[in-house]
Amino acid sequence: MTTQLKEVIQLDEILPVQYDLKIDVQSLANDSDEPELVKGELDYHFDVLKATNRLVLNCHEIVLDKVTLVKPLLSNSTPEISHNEQIMQTTLTFSEPLPIGTDAILRIEFHHNYAKDLLGHYDSTGHHLDGTPFRLSLTQFEPFYARNSFPCIDQPDAKALFNISILHPKDKIALSNMPVQSSTNVGDKSTLTVFQTTPKVSTYLVAWAIGDFESISGSCYDGKFAVNVYTMPGQKENASFALKTAVNAIEYLTKYTGIPIPLPKMDLLCVPDFSAGAMENWGLVTFREVALLADEKKSSIRAMKQIARTVTHELVHQWAGNLVTMTWWDELWLNEGFATFLADLVNNDLYPKWKIWNDFQVESQGAAFDADSKDSTHPIHVPILRVQDTEDIFDSISYEKSSCVLLMLNDFIGPEAFQKGFGLYLKELAYRNSTAEDLWEGFTKGTEDKIDVVSLMESWTKQTGHPLVIVRREGGKLHLSQKRFCRANLTNSGIEALSDETIWRIPLRVGVKYQGKADVTVLSHLMTERSITLDIADSEKIEWVKVNYGQCGFYRVLYADDISLNQLSAALTHNPDSLPVSDRLGIQSDLFSIANNSQGKIATCVECLSLVDKAYRKEDSLSVLRDAWMNLGSVIGINFEAVAHAKDNEYASTLVASFRKWKLGIFEPLAETLGIARLPEDKDALAALFSVPVTDDQEQVQLRAFVMNHLIGTRHKPSVEYLQKLFDETILPKITPIHLKEYEEMVKEVDRIERGDPEVVVSPEQIPGRIEADNALSTALQTIPANLRIPMFAAASLIQDKDAPLSELEVKRRQAFFAISHCISPILLPADQTMALSTFLGPCHRVEAKRMFLLCLSNRDTIGVRKMELYRAAAALCGLSQIGFGTEIWKLTIENEGKMWDALRARLSGNLISFMLEYLACCAVNSGSDERKAELTSLTEDFLTKRAASLPPITQLKIKEGIHTNTQLWDTQGAAVCDWIMNKGKS
Ligand code: BES
Ligand code: ZN
Repeated sequence: MTTQLKEVIQLDEILPVQYDLKIDVQSLANDSDEPELVKGELDYHFDVLKATNRLVLNCHEIVLDKVTLVKPLLSNSTPEISHNEQIMQTTLTFSEPLPIGTDAILRIEFHHNYAKDLLGHYDSTGHHLDGTPFRLSLTQFEPFYARNSFPCIDQPDAKALFNISILHPKDKIALSNMPVQSSTNVGDKSTLTVFQTTPKVSTYLVAWAIGDFESISGSCYDGKFAVNVYTMPGQKENASFALKTAVNAIEYLTKYTGIPIPLPKMDLLCVPDFSAGAMENWGLVTFREVALLADEKKSSIRAMKQIARTVTHELVHQWAGNLVTMTWWDELWLNEGFATFLADLVNNDLYPKWKIWNDFQVESQGAAFDADSKDSTHPIHVPILRVQDTEDIFDSISYEKSSCVLLMLNDFIGPEAFQKGFGLYLKELAYRNSTAEDLWEGFTKGTEDKIDVVSLMESWTKQTGHPLVIVRREGGKLHLSQKRFCRANLTNSGIEALSDETIWRIPLRVGVKYQGKADVTVLSHLMTERSITLDIADSEKIEWVKVNYGQCGFYRVLYADDISLNQLSAALTHNPDSLPVSDRLGIQSDLFSIANNSQGKIATCVECLSLVDKAYRKEDSLSVLRDAWMNLGSVIGINFEAVAHAKDNEYASTLVASFRKWKLGIFEPLAETLGIARLPEDKDALAALFSVPVTDDQEQVQLRAFVMNHLIGTRHKPSVEYLQKLFDETILPKITPIHLKEYEEMVKEVDRIERGDPEVVVSPEQIPGRIEADNALSTALQTIPANLRIPMFAAASLIQDKDAPLSELEVKRRQAFFAISHCISPILLPADQTMALSTFLGPCHRVEAKRMFLLCLSNRDTIGVRKMELYRAAAALCGLSQIGFGTEIWKLTIENEGKMWDALRARLSGNLISFMLEYLACCAVNSGSDERKAELTSLTEDFLTKRAASLPPITQLKIKEGIHTNTQLWDTQGAAVCDWIMNKGKS
């Protein structure tokens, strides 16, 4: 790839130096005549490196009112302006060349409206304690939306200084990257807040926020560095966990990197509307509320972990990304891989009871393997020619696979060398831009030049996919060979016949357990060839051999001999503690993946089910159980989805009943052991089972919640009845006529959308008594132990008959979920709110589910689905594949010339488009009659062909592949899986 092809602005003629930017948001005032208007004035300082009469800036959806060159003086200081919309560049042409020299100044006056898609400079609404609404002004510039807010060279390598000032209504607080330098009244209604000059920073990291915030504060560096968390009114109490984590993470990372944060303060701000989860703007990190607000006493462990993970992730970026920034988006992974990996490394030390690496294995490694085994995967280092294509790669490869590869390197060169190398790299390139080569150089120095990090790592970052290591043991010889792990290779009849030529440099670890010896002997070897043979001593005494011991390597393992997997499976069955948690997890994970991707030719799904059924009966590790049941759930989900269309109702319901019976047989004994098979009536006893301080045994409590959730999935009667009663008695009495009226509004809105009637514009009004009612509802919900709320929601959302009208009680419960998900009380914890929303949007009911899909099209946030939460709706609706709705939902999206998708698409922006579409397509299976299959195939093909230009390219591939692989799984293994389950139901 040559740089000329990239749509970038070259920095060899004009070099940006400083932006003096004044933004006028007086429009935020309640009585503003032009509530949508943002005005701006920019003094753009630059150096002229080569005499030129052309100056290019990125601009998008901004009106330039006046453009003048202030310095140097030219005979005509007003340029001609031309704009190329496609590449979002505005070219200013002067009548004579600008002479070479420093500190030229261009002055631009401009204006635009607030963005409607949460990207760029947008507005939002918050609420005061008494429920009155107020407006906010917010920014989100990554990856290329700074140009929607002010003219600039919007590229990560065009770092500059920023002097930001904001003219805003007097009563509001203004925040930006830097501390306030001065604040002066302008007239009697406005204030001009001027911020200190930033260090050199890329445009995508610039930010400001204006609104009515409250805050709590802490400090680092012996009180020399302020850390503040800003929230909407009434929420600051729930910000202390984030503050504590932020303070500790900053101290930790300062020691880890040897570099203090080069800004005088760090603000964390959570806002009601936000497209991503959080954004690392330098000195002003922004979050959606669910990613920041929690209370150690009232929140679930899951919610707290998510917050710690997000806070630390964004703080890692202050070094990896903000101080040293990738040169171009093709190395986005340098940002995101590091933030993902180091966040877990830091939090593992901050919260040792959480066993974060177990979660890493289930979530990060799991997602990475999944995405990377598909044909639609891409190398970590991916060419990006158009900045628009960047959004397609904020994905599991850039985040999770990168973090896995860094974990592997950390393990291989050792944590000290890794830390040292990273610090050297940062110091070398501070305030500048970097490439992966710079990083490898740092790590090589970190190892004192002992390890060739470049060739090791490039085999992982530049090549597509990851290897499968095939193991054959013969006496004391361990034969290992590698091939790319992909469907083409795995479905080839003989594993020897694989054709792919790629070779990875694999840091191998092999664990060997000998009879009568407690310790495991570990062999390490860097595998650089296609095939190698290792010698194992005392082969006759081997109890088992586990390749990828510790699971730090990013490769799958296939045991192709007769003995290895049998020995491991015997160890799992009889003596699971002899294997570490990571390896117990790894064994089933590798097998599931091979079975899914080989169409049953190398391993089968039935073998996987049997393995879980037999070898994991004694399993008591949360992460192993979570992973195994996720893998199993996905196989089952695809088959149930297919059965719904390919078989009659009676067969389908017998199958589901058999599955539940078998699953209950596994989970009930677990529940007995954990003391939750019959939940206690006594409230304190219940609380003791499902809540625990952060410093105590968190895994046990999480395990109870996990098991309870699965028990509900099997319809375990005592648990279901108990939790439904708990919900009915605690929540239902708090649903007031105010809530019911809103629910009716929602019903009417869906009716309107269904009829295709035009949208009615309703300006949201303040409802008397609403905030009090919502406060009472939120308080009631918090009397339920935090970790029991998810299972309770699961129980209360069960529906008797997916095709019959809802019962009165079922409607009441849905009204309650609606009320919680649309509650405006600051007392409500965001994690509870989003869980209620997901529950509400994914009802196991044919008619209601379709109506929830329609609700996603409503633009009325107060009763519908906020733009930022749409992907949650897609995930919830697709979760319905267990009752055969997955394919229906996909059809609904694309039929009628994709009318529905177009309506949805109009509400989506950025990478939410990809998320939503992938979720909607991922549960579709092509099964049933030939007509039905042909119909779905042609609908999907039609949809993708007609929209080829408007959908992100990688997303298109993912959709096609997703439906295809689901269908193949059913076609090749569905019958065997169903037979196996049916048999389990009989025994
Ligand atoms: N830089 C990203 C935010 C972002 C994502 C901007 C996509 C533009 C497009 C941020 O650092 C991030 O990665 N946020 C994550 C949270 C994190 C805990 C994985 C997110 O938004 O989900
Ligand atoms: Zn990130």
